[in-house]
Amino acid sequence: MSSTDEIKTRLGIVELAESAGVKLRRSGKTYTGFCPFHSNTKTPAFVIWPDSGTWRCFGECGEGGDIFKFVMKKEGVDFKDALQILADRTGVKLVEYQSQPPEQKEEYQRLRNLLEEAATFYRHQLLSTPEGEAPLTYLMEKRKLTRETIEKFSLGYAPHHWDSAVVHFKTKGYTEHDLLEVGLVSERESGGYYDKFRNRIMIPIRDENGKMTGFGARILDPNDIPKFMNSPQTVLFDKSSLLFGLDQARKSIRAQDQGVIVEGYLDVIALHQAGFSNVVSPMGTSITETQIKMLKKFTRKLVLALDPDSAGQKAVLRGLESARSSMDTEDEIRFDARGLLRHEGRLNADLRVATMPDGLDPDEVVEKDPALWAFLISTSKPIVEYVLDVLIRDQDVNDPKTKSSIVSKIIPLIEDLPDPIERDAYRQLVARKIKVDERSLLNIKVAEKRTPPSKAAAKVDAQKANNIENPLIVKGNKNLEISCMNVLLRRPDLLPHIDRKLQESRLERVSKNDFDNTEFQLLLELIQRSLEQDEVDQVKFVENNLTPSIEEAYTLILTQKLPVGQNDRLIEEMVRMIINIRQATLKKSLEQISFLMNEPENLNETKLASLSSVMQQYGAVLRNLDDARHKLTEFRRK
Ligand code: UTP
Ligand code: MN
Repeated sequence: MSSTDEIKTRLGIVELAESAGVKLRRSGKTYTGFCPFHSNTKTPAFVIWPDSGTWRCFGECGEGGDIFKFVMKKEGVDFKDALQILADRTGVKLVEYQSQPPEQKEEYQRLRNLLEEAATFYRHQLLSTPEGEAPLTYLMEKRKLTRETIEKFSLGYAPHHWDSAVVHFKTKGYTEHDLLEVGLVSERESGGYYDKFRNRIMIPIRDENGKMTGFGARILDPNDIPKFMNSPQTVLFDKSSLLFGLDQARKSIRAQDQGVIVEGYLDVIALHQAGFSNVVSPMGTSITETQIKMLKKFTRKLVLALDPDSAGQKAVLRGLESARSSMDTEDEIRFDARGLLRHEGRLNADLRVATMPDGLDPDEVVEKDPALWAFLISTSKPIVEYVLDVLIRDQDVNDPKTKSSIVSKIIPLIEDLPDPIERDAYRQLVARKIKVDERSLLNIKVAEKRTPPSKAAAKVDAQKANNIENPLIVKGNKNLEISCMNVLLRRPDLLPHIDRKLQESRLERVSKNDFDNTEFQLLLELIQRSLEQDEVDQVKFVENNLTPSIEEAYTLILTQKLPVGQNDRLIEEMVRMIINIRQATLKKSLEQISFLMNEPENLNETKLASLSSVMQQYGAVLRNLDDARHKLTEFRRK
């Protein structure tokens, strides 16, 4: 469940409006009161539908929406702030949205500058001092890096002393506390500070915009440990939300519509040098959901290039049997086949696996033969297929026991996939590869224990069991809204065609009013803006301009697949969905108006007249919608 949904389940619109001072009266399935947004206090034209969590004013403002829209209007704030206000009020933790006070921004900038100066300092040690000769020779001769590459990645060398950085930066006016804060020094137990990085190759780690965050530091002396030492967690350096090389790779990831994730820093550098510039690596941890989301801004097609027999490769295959009894958390990807598949689905990514041959790391592969690297990436396999291949490798697939054991491992993985077509395709693949009848794979009982549901899901289940209705899941137009948004986000270019088709039937163009959920209204705005520019592809434009507060809704919507069909089919389907949404909303409204007309305080002529004119207008629109829908049906029959 998204944070907005979570907030909505905790705080109803009735409770919110009442706490904002709106006096409400229950009338059937709705509540009515005076609209808090305009000063007319004669007609109770403000209506709430608790079932769908929405409100609408039938008077002057004519607006409506959900709890967020209510707070936006009431407090005069934007969605981001409304979200924060209601999150605080309901105790829902917003993970993605963190506001940063300006003083803090300045302080961060100062620390970034310090790190930038540190990169310059270490580079100078490598390139222009006698002490740097040995490490430079290592990089150029052993690792085959060119001077150009070394400069491009600003590689450096931390001298073999306890206080090079301490001394250098003190003379530049930084305090030891500053150095500690960016992770360049450690504190002695006896007091005082010493250089954290000594006699190491320094690899600056930048965020996706090229701003300094910290360092990865590799040993030169093979006896030193650990082999790599990263900056400690600091305000700027958060391992789980950084990808090494992304600042240099983002352009070509987008251009090639593919990103490759390798395990090591030096692999990234070697591959970029060889012209494969769409490569990044995590910081020695397994990949996190945050990192996949970061890459997804540039492409949904990701390849994991795993070192042979590495922890990463073993991990993908780990626990095929036991996976069901453990679970992954929301933002930490459990690095095994099931965890990856789940996140692939949730994030609508296309994750593939490539493995390196003969005990070679990616940097060795590309050094040996760049064409081999290209081949390995282009033949990378979807996760299920990869797992299947590993299971089959060196096995006699004619042996019935082997067949059975492979099936029992792979089928649970396939059954877990959300898409029935994909499930079917993989069953066929299994049948072909291990030579069994595909139908026999349909009857396999997935006997193992199901994964325990996530906390949020458990809560929904509990609600179901207690028969407490969760209005968001079943009621209202939410599902229709999601389906519409899904089409529009994937195919913004269709919007003008959808609008034209609506207008041909004398219907209004798609508008914010068609969506009850505030984040969808904002997404529509973004889609409309994407069509007013022609600098970037529209889908990318939307991706690039997402604010953290609507990103979650965006990600959730995109876990749906695009309905199959040609453009005409999609346009028609969209028009149909918009008509359905409008009809449902209008019917609700008409019911309400006729109810209002029977209210004692409305029994005077001017009020009745104005209500009945609204009713007539709505009635006309409703008939129009009916006509348009019939036309669509006729068109289909033709
Ligand atoms: P590798 O040991 O495969 O190193 O670790 P590498 O990048 O291939 O380096 P070379 O080729 O031996 O010089 C892969 C990654 O795991 C992390 C680093 O991010 C490294 O790039 N790592 C490794 C650590 O964080 N700490 C370690 O002690 C070792
Ligand atoms: Mn290596």
